[in-house]
Amino acid sequence: MIKMDQQDILQQLEQLRTEALAALAKASTTEETRAWYREYLGGKGRLTAIKRSLGGLSPEDRPLVGKQANEMSAVLESALKERQAALELAEMEAARGKESIDVTLPGRPQTLGKIHPTTRVLREIYAVFGSMGFQIYDSPEVETDEYNFQFLNMPPGHPARDMWDTFYTTDPEVLLRTHTSPGQIHAMRQYAPETIRVILPGKCYRYEPVTARSESMFYQVEGLAVGKGITFSDLKGVITNFASQIYGEGHAMRFRKSYFPFTEPSVEVDIACLLCNGKGCSICKHTGWLEILGAGMVNPLVLRYGGYDPAEYSGFAFGMGPERIALLKYGIDDIRYFYSNDARFLDRIG
Ligand code: FA5
Repeated sequence: MIKMDQQDILQQLEQLRTEALAALAKASTTEETRAWYREYLGGKGRLTAIKRSLGGLSPEDRPLVGKQANEMSAVLESALKERQAALELAEMEAARGKESIDVTLPGRPQTLGKIHPTTRVLREIYAVFGSMGFQIYDSPEVETDEYNFQFLNMPPGHPARDMWDTFYTTDPEVLLRTHTSPGQIHAMRQYAPETIRVILPGKCYRYEPVTARSESMFYQVEGLAVGKGITFSDLKGVITNFASQIYGEGHAMRFRKSYFPFTEPSVEVDIACLLCNGKGCSICKHTGWLEILGAGMVNPLVLRYGGYDPAEYSGFAFGMGPERIALLKYGIDDIRYFYSNDARFLDRIG
């Protein structure tokens, strides 16, 4: 065995301390401190190698050098702990800086629900007629042939039934109503012989081609006034007031003679087309006008079916299409958007 010199080892230890502490001060990440540990203190590290060589010292030299080597271990380990703690803190701070919430980022927009244009127009219609003393009356969507046709002066085989073809159930007497007019009979039968001023909103169904202005399912709002001395002038006044409240005073409208089996005389009301400003488009069938409602004086036969004596009572009725009213009001160019369930439609009308 080579005889080791005590002074030599002490010198090596001193040199190692200087080198190790300098290297540790340079370690700039916790990963580098782990590599430093392997280099100086690990099983194959330099201090361990020196400790192993102590066996070459004379027994009397060994205790002093051994003590020095152990002290050196303790010094280096505590220096390592201190350095690691400082680096961990710095690394944590750096990570926190990276992950922290950036309050200047724009927030995620919340999507808000919108009221459907049909509902909007319905509410406006309720308000306008409410201001004229009309109350809302609910009547069924599923009707009988009697109410949808017969009590409205359209017995079986009547040619006018073709204008209002609908969807039938397996029971030939039960069908989806084509208009809200059957509600007139329900209201009259409930209130006769009192005077009536009601509107009847709800869905209607038609077996007819779907186009830019006509759907197979749509809403109507029926109106009915029954009393003594009610004239066609009352009907005109109510409708004119309604149109000016919905479209603004002075917006062009016209009454056009028409035919309905359940009113006599009958009219249709057109509003000047706002989509094309009268130039003509698919909505107004290139006429510059869009029909929004049918109306007339309640046919005496219908009054009788409702329980009123036409010699004493008279009345007017109308039936309007809220989707048609909305087409013009919001500049929508196709009725098929209403029930196609595309939410972008709601955004478009604002
Ligand atoms: C009727 O339905 C009559 N019951 C109206 C009436 C009531 C007349 C009371 C006299 C007295 P008409 O089929 O024209 O009439 O429809 C009335 C309104 O409903 C139309 O002016 C239109 O605004 C709307 N409408 C009719 N068919 C459709 C459809 N397929 N799609 C959307 N709206 C429609």
